[in-house]
Amino acid sequence: MTVDSSDNDLSPTIETVGWVGSAQNGCVRLIDQTLLPGMFTRIDCQTVDQVWEAIKMLRVRGAPAIGIAAAFGALLGARSQGTESIESVRSALHDATAHLRTSRPTAVNLFWALDRMDRTVEAEASRLSDPSALLERLLTEARAIQDEDRAMCRSIGRFGAELLKPGQGVLTHCNAGGLATADYGTALAVIFSAAEQGKSVHVFADETRPLLQGARLTAWELQRRGIPVTLICDNMAAQVMKEGRVQAVVVGADRIAANGDTANKIGTYSVALAARAHDIPFYVAAPSSTFDLSLPDGASIPIEQRDPREITHGFGYATAPEGIEVYNPAFDVTPATLITALITERGVIRPATREAIRDLIGS
Ligand code: MRU
Repeated sequence: MTVDSSDNDLSPTIETVGWVGSAQNGCVRLIDQTLLPGMFTRIDCQTVDQVWEAIKMLRVRGAPAIGIAAAFGALLGARSQGTESIESVRSALHDATAHLRTSRPTAVNLFWALDRMDRTVEAEASRLSDPSALLERLLTEARAIQDEDRAMCRSIGRFGAELLKPGQGVLTHCNAGGLATADYGTALAVIFSAAEQGKSVHVFADETRPLLQGARLTAWELQRRGIPVTLICDNMAAQVMKEGRVQAVVVGADRIAANGDTANKIGTYSVALAARAHDIPFYVAAPSSTFDLSLPDGASIPIEQRDPREITHGFGYATAPEGIEVYNPAFDVTPATLITALITERGVIRPATREAIRDLIGS
């Protein structure tokens, strides 16, 4: 793995993860998000194991970005057993996608993107005779996943901005910004798009324990784009709502079941409950790739359990007694009944019912 920390000259949007070089010799380049906001560093992954580790350790994170990283990672895997024959590329690609599927369980975008890579190799392996042409085709597919996500984020932003009014306070949880997607984000796309339309809003960013994606990433993204933002601890959200500072909540999603139940970063459910108690609209912004219509409801969404040390040693030293029992689910599920609307690239689903979701997403 090589590292480049020289480039902090970002365009208005951020390329979180991408492919550099040719299909035969290139690699996956990604921003190491574990180092933000202190260090802006891009790392190059040359092997599928390095991409797996980057996903597992949250160097690249956020549902759509995980899917994009995995798609490019699958290409690294495809050429790992030699590129002499179509069959070696085909079987290596399947090995790589199977391995990448074990990195994180909750965000369905990972599986959605890997399914696309699997389907592509199956469709093209019988048609093509040149292994390098097959690698090219796999790169084209991974790039398409990235490009489509970029377009979906812009569209989510446009639909979502219609729901905000100038001067509103908007609370968000975790990071669903450019860092979590191809660029521009989902929940933050709504805020960026509103700002571009001249509707200035003030964001309250939950810091998002235990890994502080809100403090480290959302606050950083909003600050560098000049959007007014106030950082709060997670346990302050209800009080900030009671004080009348918040008129809307917008969050992202990792997986949305057929009935609208939504898995997102742990703590989202509490925010939704607090929003309902204060009669504040609670919006979930997500692309169609985040919907999993094979699951009837949120009860069957797999929830990732993470290392207890993220809670006991999250600040680099022990903040709890040695040997303490810890529970560390990375996500929770917000019931559809608490969601005012789902903002997708195809339009706004309001209310979030099984029928409305099927009509917009199920085709
Ligand atoms: O554990 P993370 O940082 O990958 O969790 C990310 C989230 O929960 C985001 O809100 C979600 O993936 C949506 S990103 C557009």
